[in-house]
Amino acid sequence: MRPPELDPIDVALLTNRLKTTPFAQGEIQYLPTTGSTNDVARDLAEKGAPEGTIVIAESQTKGRGRLDRTWHSPPGAGLYFSIVLRPQLDPSDLPKITLLAGIAVAESIEETTGLHPLIKWPNDLLLEGKKVAGILTELYGDITSPYVILGIGINVHTRREEFLPELQKIATSLAMAGGQNISRANLMQAMLTHLGRWYEIFKKGVFQPILDAWRKRCVIIGARVKILSGEKELEGTIVDVDVGGALLLRDQSGQIQRILSGEVIRWKK
Ligand code: BTN
Repeated sequence: MRPPELDPIDVALLTNRLKTTPFAQGEIQYLPTTGSTNDVARDLAEKGAPEGTIVIAESQTKGRGRLDRTWHSPPGAGLYFSIVLRPQLDPSDLPKITLLAGIAVAESIEETTGLHPLIKWPNDLLLEGKKVAGILTELYGDITSPYVILGIGINVHTRREEFLPELQKIATSLAMAGGQNISRANLMQAMLTHLGRWYEIFKKGVFQPILDAWRKRCVIIGARVKILSGEKELEGTIVDVDVGGALLLRDQSGQIQRILSGEVIRWKK
């Protein structure tokens, strides 16, 4: 365990930065520990919390990832937060939010550490081929007033032995990848700026710049992959991502398959 005071999260500083972003209506709730910041943010949103409401926790006891996985969240080792978004949204546009968040995470890491993360569709941020951050995008509410809880987890100071044994070969942290003097407060400030910028573009209904930025970082475009999508296992070559945020895979018979959700279980360039 690492005392959070070694790399404190300055909530007043972050609140000031928040006010200069499109999330200015929101407030930051900082919790020493909680179950899952996505659940706390959802409760707040149900009670009417505005867009830009952010929940940050030092640790989570029930941190969640996609596909019902656990997001291991030891104190002081990472950045774990969720933000309430209230976009005009067609449910089929949800993957676009995951994509833009991936770009914002990559840019924030780059700006504060000099490391260069790549993205593995749909939501994995990789350094040296290992996962350093993940994004959990959840849609709630109804068709007339939908809201999104965007949860982001970044492994910042985590040491190899702090990861569960089954994750040690596939997970990394900014510190393990060589990041020096990393400040979670700086990383979080950068997150607010980059997320705000890309979210504004998304809200204008413009997706091409998001797609272009995402493509540049995607490790699996052009790769041969095996993908688990629901019950189906698909093999082929990734051709592109389309304007809906879906992955386009050319299968063995030459057909293009459009994949909206799933997990890349193997890839080779
Ligand atoms: C994934 O890679 O599957 C997504 C991981 C998302 C983890 C973050 S940590 C903050 C927020 N609260 C959660 O319970 N999950 C997300």
